[in-house]
Amino acid sequence: MRIAVVHGPNLNLLGVREPEVYGTGTLADIDRALEALGREVDTEVESFQSNSEGRILDYLAEIRDRVDGVLINPAGLGHTSVALLDGLLATSKPFAEVHLSNPASRESFRRHSFLTPAAVGVVAGFGVDSYLSGFRCLNNYLVRRSATAS
Ligand code: DQA
Repeated sequence: MRIAVVHGPNLNLLGVREPEVYGTGTLADIDRALEALGREVDTEVESFQSNSEGRILDYLAEIRDRVDGVLINPAGLGHTSVALLDGLLATSKPFAEVHLSNPASRESFRRHSFLTPAAVGVVAGFGVDSYLSGFRCLNNYLVRRSATAS
C-alpha cells in the first residue's frame, strides 16, 4: 500500500501555532511518527503540506495513479472548500479526514466540513494520535478492500 498524507494551510506552523490548541509537536514530528507506523504496517507514506489551496489541488491530481488512499488534515480548507472536496473525489481513492483538535467542540464555523460526507472516516481531537489512528484505520480499510477485490 501507499498512502499520501496531506497537511493543509498553517500546519507548517505546528509547535508555535496556538500550542494550547494544537500542542507543541511539530509537523516533522507527525511525519516521523507516520513514517515509523508505515514501516510497521508495511505501507509507504508520502507527505505533503502547503498553505496554497491550488498547490494542494495540483498535488492531488498528480498522485492519483501512485497512491491507494489519502489521509488529509484539511485544516481551515475543510470548512470552506468545495474545490478540495472535488480534488479528493477526482483521485477516485478513499480518503480519511483527521484533525488535531476537535473542531466540533470549538467555534460554530468549524462544525461543518465539506469533506466529511465523502470520507471513509474521521478522527479528531487526539493530537498526533488522530493522525496515527486515522492512518491505521485507513490502511486496514485499504488492505481489506484489496483482499476482497482479488
Ligand atoms: C484543524 C482544525 C481546523 O478547524 C483548523 O482550521 C486547523 C486545524 C485541526 O487539526 O485541529 O487549521 O484541522
